[in-house]
Amino acid sequence: MLGSLVFASLFPSGIHGTIHIDIAKKGPAVSKGLYGVFLEEINNSGEGGLYAELIQNRGFEDANTPPACALVGDKLYAPKNPSFWEGHSKDFNMEWPYANLGPTPFWSFKNLKSTVTDANPLSEASRHSVRIEAQSGGVIRNEGFWGIGLKSGETYEASAFVRSSSFKGTLKCKLVGPNGELLGASTLNGTLKPGHWVQLKTKLKATGTSSRAKFEIETSGNGEFQLDFVSLMPTKTWRNLPLRTDLAQMIADLKPGFIRWPGGCVTEGITIETRPRWKQTIGPLHERVPTFIPWGYWVSNGYGYHEWLLHCEALKAEPLYVFNAGISCAFRSGTFLGDAELTAEIQDILDAIEYATGPVTSKYGALRAKAGHPKPFAMNMIEIGNEDQGPKYGERFKRIAAAVKAKYPKIKTILSSWIAGIDHAAINAAGPQMDIVDEHAYIPAHWGVQNFDSFGKYSRKVPWELYIGEFATNSGVGRGNMNATLGDCAYMMSIEKNSDLVKMGSYAPLLENTNRRQWEVNLIHFDSARAYGRASYYACKLFAENVPTYNVSTKVDMIETEVPGISGPIGIGTYLTHSEFKDLKVNGQPIASPWKARNGIWSQVDGAYVQKSLDFDQWGFFEQEFRDGTVELKARKISGEEGFVVSVGNAEGRRVQFNIGGWGNRQHGLEAQGVIRRINGSVETGRWYDVKVITSGRRVQCFLDGKQLFDETLPRVDTLLSIAGYDKATGEIIVKVLNAANSPRTISLEVANAKLTGTGTWTTLGSPDVNAENDYSAPKRIYPSTRALGKEFKTDAVTLPANSINIFRLKTGSQ
Ligand code: AHR
Repeated sequence: MLGSLVFASLFPSGIHGTIHIDIAKKGPAVSKGLYGVFLEEINNSGEGGLYAELIQNRGFEDANTPPACALVGDKLYAPKNPSFWEGHSKDFNMEWPYANLGPTPFWSFKNLKSTVTDANPLSEASRHSVRIEAQSGGVIRNEGFWGIGLKSGETYEASAFVRSSSFKGTLKCKLVGPNGELLGASTLNGTLKPGHWVQLKTKLKATGTSSRAKFEIETSGNGEFQLDFVSLMPTKTWRNLPLRTDLAQMIADLKPGFIRWPGGCVTEGITIETRPRWKQTIGPLHERVPTFIPWGYWVSNGYGYHEWLLHCEALKAEPLYVFNAGISCAFRSGTFLGDAELTAEIQDILDAIEYATGPVTSKYGALRAKAGHPKPFAMNMIEIGNEDQGPKYGERFKRIAAAVKAKYPKIKTILSSWIAGIDHAAINAAGPQMDIVDEHAYIPAHWGVQNFDSFGKYSRKVPWELYIGEFATNSGVGRGNMNATLGDCAYMMSIEKNSDLVKMGSYAPLLENTNRRQWEVNLIHFDSARAYGRASYYACKLFAENVPTYNVSTKVDMIETEVPGISGPIGIGTYLTHSEFKDLKVNGQPIASPWKARNGIWSQVDGAYVQKSLDFDQWGFFEQEFRDGTVELKARKISGEEGFVVSVGNAEGRRVQFNIGGWGNRQHGLEAQGVIRRINGSVETGRWYDVKVITSGRRVQCFLDGKQLFDETLPRVDTLLSIAGYDKATGEIIVKVLNAANSPRTISLEVANAKLTGTGTWTTLGSPDVNAENDYSAPKRIYPSTRALGKEFKTDAVTLPANSINIFRLKTGSQ
């Protein structure tokens, strides 16, 4: 609809622009492993996700209070120790997520007596077990992670540790569907030895498919026993690692150059005592100490240090472990280890490196060999700290890095910088022991496009390289729509273009169990039975598959002469808030156009439009096209976290909106899917406000209760972006062209100093609707399509679909 207005003038040839590529003008080499993955335990990504174990709380330890913390009512309190940054205690507390789940979360018992006990513990790590006073027909049931996913015909291995005191009888494992239907059964094998823990095992074949199955142990016989560390694992896992096949394959398909692990905030812990300790994640599973992670749940560490190293090896990906710098999460308690305690922490880091790389004759190399891997793993880099900042952190980094370099001079050390920018204070304090800086970038819609080549502005007079350890376009993009993907593509193009400085990048977060969404936008969504990738998943995959050997000069010449104004439908919306709108006028006249809800829970009450859903980004639009004029209305907040939003059309496909009481009701903003300007301000609940927006061309004026808050002219944005490089292995020129406009564009591709054979491929990923998303019902709604190029392909008139990334692999005569 907007296309014809946006791009007014074309050359008579019908071409919107030309991309000039010159193969003779070589740019920097691009790292082979430029794109990796960042695996963090968040959204039940690992536990109840990638890690294939199907029993939740298998060691009966989930009701434990995390080390050094205290439970008061339904709140978990950190010790009142000073924070590393603030110097005083932050009195950190959080909801205790297990508050209403009793002593055995995710377990239930029928026809028998059960008590949690710490008598006769199975191991130091799994101190609790359940004492069962059994009778025939008793049932011990685990609900899995929001149900157990079973596939008909597949086998599952069940096991449990049992310590009998007087029990005589058998224990039968059952797979049970949501309506009680039996989907498989088998008796646990092994001989009980009174007074001793014995691991019983069996295999079950599923006779049906279900996403909501449960696991049961049925007692037949009488007497008392203790039960601990129950497991149900699919026999079929990814490459014999304990990984769920579909998710692990989706990760493998991203061809990661490295795996960053375990965090993120997870590296830091809510308190220093809860930080992950690698030594607690190796060895027999029942001897691994669970970790309470900052995202509010216990992790059993079945995917531990050794499994992670094996996972990296299987993917030929570099391991990138993130070690704690002796400081807990800045957003949580920020408690820390004193300088003296840091010595032991440094030794722990050295031991971890020895475990991965040391000879079998070394203490930890021998442990690795005992775990079945005598051959050392590769380990060429480590990160120290996550999102820590300031000179104090830099000094800690320096001390740790110096110890690492003294023993392992070839290992590169990574300093974790802050979100959206580089922390020079920390860098300066860290000194020359630091090789790489890790910047994190969570950016709003269209930021990537508007700030294309942002790394071009970074100084090159630095002795270090840059790693973008976490990036994502993740606000104003629903759950991750095509608009997010356009931003992500522009961002990755900028990474690649600046590969003299930026050597690695990883999207974040990678995985989301739909049942525990803790982060707004994630790359791969799954539940117990299904998984799909968002459009950005396919973009990341395409970028990883199309890394050139080196860049070549690329220049975009657009032939657009007119800068488009703001136009489109008027919209009213909310974000996490229940609000209402009334008395809508356009140019002084009551608005007469038909209105349609796009999402949310809307009703019209006494002439007011009421939106009740407390979800993100809820909108309704008036169909009539608006351009250059005045929009007025009254709005009030009824409940929720923010205020209300009014949209007055689009500029280059970006929704232009006046956001009143945004950012947690702390600021007002003018946005064009990316912040143009924002100021401090909030709205009162229940009070009607007068809202007015005037547009003229690209100028927007916003008023609240008669007071002008913004008067801005939207900057012109280039929405046709391109980079190119040469792939030595195939003799192809790889050209990436992003058309981030809402309309198709025809371009001419001019390649100098190369002989094109006229063959190659053209892959496109896009959607005419920037708001479109993949979901369970249409997991491939936005999906790449590749066509072979032949004689009919004319480089002088290539029409790129609206909102699309295009990757051309053009064969040159040199191959
Ligand atoms: O990716 C989610 C979180 O975002 C990470 O844990 C943290 O490093 C960042 O703030």
